[in-house]
Amino acid sequence: METIVRTKIVDVLKSEAFGTTVNVKGWVRTRRGSKQISFIALNDGSTIKNVQIVVSVEDFGEEYLKPITTGACISVNGTLVRSEGKGQEAEIQAREILIYGTADPATYPLQKKGHSLEFLREIAHLRPRTNTFGAVFRIRHHMAMAIHRFFHERGFFYFHTPVITASDCEGAGQMFQVTTMNLYDLKKDDGGSIDYTGDFFGKQTSLTVSGQLEGELAAMALGSIYTFGPTFRAENSNTPRHLAEFWMIEPEVAFNGIEENMQLAEEFIKYCIRWGLDHCMEDIRFLNDMYDKELIERLHFVLERDFIRLTYTEGIKILEEAVAKGQTFEFPVFWGADLASEHERYLVEVHFKCPVILTDYPKEIKSFYMKQNDDGKTVRAMDVLFPKIGEIIGGSQREDDYDKLSDHAREKGVPVKDIWWYLDTRKFGTAPHSGFGLGFERLLLFVTGMGNIRDVIPFPRTPNNAGF
Ligand code: 4AD
Ligand code: MG
Repeated sequence: METIVRTKIVDVLKSEAFGTTVNVKGWVRTRRGSKQISFIALNDGSTIKNVQIVVSVEDFGEEYLKPITTGACISVNGTLVRSEGKGQEAEIQAREILIYGTADPATYPLQKKGHSLEFLREIAHLRPRTNTFGAVFRIRHHMAMAIHRFFHERGFFYFHTPVITASDCEGAGQMFQVTTMNLYDLKKDDGGSIDYTGDFFGKQTSLTVSGQLEGELAAMALGSIYTFGPTFRAENSNTPRHLAEFWMIEPEVAFNGIEENMQLAEEFIKYCIRWGLDHCMEDIRFLNDMYDKELIERLHFVLERDFIRLTYTEGIKILEEAVAKGQTFEFPVFWGADLASEHERYLVEVHFKCPVILTDYPKEIKSFYMKQNDDGKTVRAMDVLFPKIGEIIGGSQREDDYDKLSDHAREKGVPVKDIWWYLDTRKFGTAPHSGFGLGFERLLLFVTGMGNIRDVIPFPRTPNNAGF
């Protein structure tokens, strides 16, 4: 076969160089046709669209074409011609076809269209080859780009925080332990506790639940930073919005108060959504038509609205009034209660019909590092709540007073001796500062309109599920 530089299908379809010879490589979506002519729909992942390869059966011979079935991988040299079919700009008249790999129709699982998302999760190694997951993973890439650009344009520095850590940032005790100890032969001390001195790091370590604590150290030197990395939580929540391994973006800004923090969060999330509409429209339109007919409308809706800002206390009042009027919730509503997704979504979808930023939560239900308000009851927390998602961002102004911070940590049972380095920032040149965490997959749920978080990450990790 003649060697010709490969053109990606996304570029072939835009090309007007009719009459020239091109090479494309990709996976066969379908092959159909007659005794004389065969049509191959070829996809290489560069776009949701396939290029049509037109093949003269006589030229190649039926036997040669036989293994070119759904899932096979081929390389095609041919002439670019203007398509006569509707909706296609260019197609390729095949001159040479090389078969890289066949896919036996008897065993290749992606035969017909319209497999359920549940079934596709069981073949996560092949699902990127479907239109749906091609679209989702291209959007995932573009969203990651948007995030880096947003912060880079604003002078933030990308700061890499460790994945293995000896501290529990959220203090929720939901960490996955990291050890090289022999679990069949654990050494214990006289008190019966496990002796970690012989473990790899000489102490008990886990996978991080958040890069925030280290991010704060960086903000106290570089001014404005963000992290973007995997985080791990061993919470046994089998919901469409929880993963045991998810990606989080955590900006942290010196001298920002809660107001600037809210402003940043709103600008950030709108920037990402606008980026999606500007760069991923083909894929978003496909998902809109396939799964969620209101997706595009919802994305525009959020862009055009100022997020509503109110306190937790005001939010509880609204929920209590709703309950008095007959609204039922699975979980009780009272001042001090942690809000469940049903409460958050009631505020966003039913009451305000707009994204909401709730602030000033009771200190009992929030993490130790949040700045305490003068009322002695609440902390300067902020959660951004979104339609269909509930909480998409969690953040706060941080406690910058050494004594208040260490007292609060102690009250919450956070082992203060393990975070001496964190507390040190409040000893040496402390400053007001704020930050937040955006769950990357929750953002993707919103932008793709997918209903289950397992379908916006290539290889989901959830309870009893770590295949692939
Ligand atoms: O509200 P969270 O727990 O906040 C923090 O971790 C802070 N340290 C962030 C900060 O201030 N720097 O988590 C932040 C966000 C949530 O709003 C949610 O979007 C996402 O992370 N998230 C999850 N996403 C998927 N699966 C889970 N199990 C998640 N837990 C939190
Ligand atoms: Mg939270």
